[in-house]
Amino acid sequence: SDNLVILGIETSCDDTAAAVVRSNGEILSQVVSSQADLLARYGGVAPKMAEEAHAQVIDKVVQEALDKANVKELDLSAVAVTIGPGLSLCLRVGVQKARKIAGSFNLPMVGVHHMEAHALVARLTEQELQFPFMALLISGGHNLLILARDLGQYVQLGTTIDDAIGEAYDKTAKWLGLDLRRSGGPAVEELAREGDAESVKFSVPMKQHKDCNFSYAGLKTQVRLAIESRNVSTEIPISSASSEDRSSRADIAASFQRVAVLHLEERCERAVEWALKIEPSIKYLVVSGGVASNQYVRARLNQVVKKKGLELVCPPPSLCTDNGVMIAWTGIEHFRVGRFDPPPPADEAEDTI
Ligand code: KG4
Ligand code: ZN
Repeated sequence: SDNLVILGIETSCDDTAAAVVRSNGEILSQVVSSQADLLARYGGVAPKMAEEAHAQVIDKVVQEALDKANVKELDLSAVAVTIGPGLSLCLRVGVQKARKIAGSFNLPMVGVHHMEAHALVARLTEQELQFPFMALLISGGHNLLILARDLGQYVQLGTTIDDAIGEAYDKTAKWLGLDLRRSGGPAVEELAREGDAESVKFSVPMKQHKDCNFSYAGLKTQVRLAIESRNVSTEIPISSASSEDRSSRADIAASFQRVAVLHLEERCERAVEWALKIEPSIKYLVVSGGVASNQYVRARLNQVVKKKGLELVCPPPSLCTDNGVMIAWTGIEHFRVGRFDPPPPADEAEDTI
């Protein structure tokens, strides 16, 4: 039958997330506990610290997801959990929790690839979205352009040769002295609205490489040099900057964003041309991952995609950033076609993974 209810658990990076989703696409619950505060205090993810933070909240987050969905473990069809890519110490917290539940309640398990989940969640929000489709996945650690030919059949058209765009946003935010209690991306997006995007002449990465790969390390360096040459004192938080200093920072933010996104636009345009040669029936480009919650990114990519005769599909922001719904949904997609693992032994010692 296709009346599945799946719990999804995600701990691959700095958010601890869980959700319960039904196979008709109904989201029964969604819980995210963020480590943003911790990150702001320490200026980055330290694996051991992140692991401890996940371990502290995992039981609570999962219980809350079950309670809000009004579902007991025995009502579940399976447990889905992110198995990679990500920090292994962090992934293990989620996997152990999933195995514990699945073992105790005799439930099948589905191991989920984090990036596949970012792409497939678009099929939950957009019922029309059939294979084959294209996806641009943009987050803190990944920058991927793929052609999704079918479930589990992905052709990589491009990836980053160094940093991902989200990393460039995060560093730009840090160097501009922005408030990092939320992640850096939204702070840069907001400040960029006040700035002149043409004022700083950053060059678009990899112009001479006629492929679909990405590079953001050079742009990061350009931003740092621009900040240094303009004497913006990044030691001073933006909230106490003079109005002149503030507008100078806004110009850098806007100029950075324009070029960072131009790089995406150029790569997407070429990728669509490539993909249509392999699969002429493609109608959609999915844009997902944390950076896809950016309004400027969405608007610019929408232009590119329309020009090429396709349609843009962007999940809502809460499903673009890391979340448990995308893991549960991907679990459903795989479970439906028989791709799952049998329940782990009930008496498995907790530390045997
Ligand atoms: O997918 P995600 O939540 O986690 C990873 O898998 O990495 O993506 C997080 C990244 C961070 O770099 C964050 O700064 C960025 O997404 N991000 C944004 C925005 N919201 C989140 N970047 C630009 N504009 C945004 N509005
Ligand atoms: Zn992610």
